[in-house]
Amino acid sequence: MRILSVVGNRPQFVKSAPLSLALRDRGVDEVVLHTGQHYDDELSAIFFEELELAPPRYRLETGSGTHGEQTGRMLPEIEAAVLEEEPDAVLVYGDTNSTLAGALAAGKLLVPVAHVEAGLRSFDRAMPEELNRMLVDRMSSLLFCPTEAAVANLGAEGIADGVHLVGDVMYDANLRLAPIARERSDALARAGVEPGGYLVLTLHREANVAPEPLARIAEALAVLDEPIVFPAHPRTSAAIAEAGIRLGPRVYLTPPVGYLDFAALASQARVVLTDSGGVQKEAYWYGVPCVTLRTTTEWVETLEAGWNTLVGTDVDAIVAAVRDASPGAERPPLYGDGHASERIADLLCTMSRDEE
Ligand code: UD1
Ligand code: UDP
Repeated sequence: MRILSVVGNRPQFVKSAPLSLALRDRGVDEVVLHTGQHYDDELSAIFFEELELAPPRYRLETGSGTHGEQTGRMLPEIEAAVLEEEPDAVLVYGDTNSTLAGALAAGKLLVPVAHVEAGLRSFDRAMPEELNRMLVDRMSSLLFCPTEAAVANLGAEGIADGVHLVGDVMYDANLRLAPIARERSDALARAGVEPGGYLVLTLHREANVAPEPLARIAEALAVLDEPIVFPAHPRTSAAIAEAGIRLGPRVYLTPPVGYLDFAALASQARVVLTDSGGVQKEAYWYGVPCVTLRTTTEWVETLEAGWNTLVGTDVDAIVAAVRDASPGAERPPLYGDGHASERIADLLCTMSRDEE
C-alpha cells in the first residue's frame, strides 16, 4: 500500500513523526510531500533532524503569501505528485493551508483523503483554520478524531461515515520525546531561568499579530513580574519590530526553538501563555497551567478539566489569569492512550485490504 503524506507546517512535522513510524512498521510505502509553507530552518529543518523524519520525496517551494496565493500555488504541484505516485490515500494533518491544498488535490482526483485531527472546531470563522477544517472534513473518506468532542462536531454536521475516534498523535509524539527533552536540552540555562520560576510564551495567530492586540499583550507582559521566555514565530517578531513594540526587560525573546528545547521550556514553566493549538495540549500533558490568548479553542477538554483559561488579549484578563493560574485538580487522559498512530496505521491498512 502507498500513502502520500502532505506536511508543511511545524506542528505537522511533529504529528507525522509517530505515524510515519507506525506506517513503516506495517510495511506501508509512505511518500512524504513537504509543501514548503514553513521554510525557515527553525520552523522546518530542525524538526526533520530532531524527530528523525525521512527527507521528503517532494519538497515544494510555495512559501508565504496570502491564503489564496499560498493554497493555490501548492495545488498543481500536489496534484502532479498524486498523479505520479498513484497513492491508495492522501494523508493530511490538522487545519493549515497545506492541509486544505493536500485534501483538495486528492479529492479532485478521486483519491481517498485521510484526515488526522478531524472534527475539531473553534466555531470562529474569523480564524483561517476553521474553514480549512470544515472543508477538509467534507472531502475526507477517513476522519481520525482525537477526541469525543471532535466526533460529536462531525455528527452535528451530518458526517458519520469513516469517522474513527483514535486519540491524539501529538500525545504519542509527546510521550516518546518529552522524557528525552529534559536530559538533552540546556534551554533553561540559556534563557537564565530556573524550573518553576518563569513563564513561557508563544504567539502566531493571524488575529494576534496585528498592532493593537500585540500592543495589549506586550502591556500585560510588562506588568507581570516573572521572567518570560518567548520563542517567537518569525511573523510575530517581524510584527513586533514593525509596530515598534517594546517588550520590557523580563522578556527573553528568541527565534523559535526545536521540539526538545520547547518541551524542556514548556514542561518546567510555572505557566504557559499561548495562542497555539498544540501548545495548549502539551501544557496539559506537562501538568502546567495554560493561559490562552484567544477567546475560543478547539481543545475544550483542557478548559473543562481546569487546566486552561481563555483570556483573549485584554490586558487585565491576561495579568489576572497568569497571576491566579494554578494546577487543576486532576489530569484525566483526555487525548487517548499514546497509540493513536498505530490505530490510524491499522485503519489505513484495513482500507487498502477492503479495496482489493
Ligand atoms: C501556519 C498555519 C497555522 C498554524 C501554524 C503553525 C495557515 C492558515 N496557518 O501559520 O494554522 O498554526 O502555521 O506554526 O495555514 N514565515 C517565515 N518563515 C517561514 C514561514 C513563515 O518568516 O518559514 C512568515 C512569513 O512572513 C509569513 C508568515 O510567517 O507570511 C505567516 O506564515 P504562514 O505560513 O502564512 O502562517 P503561520 O502563521 O506560520
Ligand atoms: N514548538 C516548538 N518550538 C517553538 C514553539 C512551538 O517546537 O518555539 C512546537 C510545540 O511543542 C508544538 C508545535 O510546535 O509541538 C505547535 O506548533 P504551533 O504552535 O506552531 O502550531 P499550532 O499547534 O497552533 O497549529
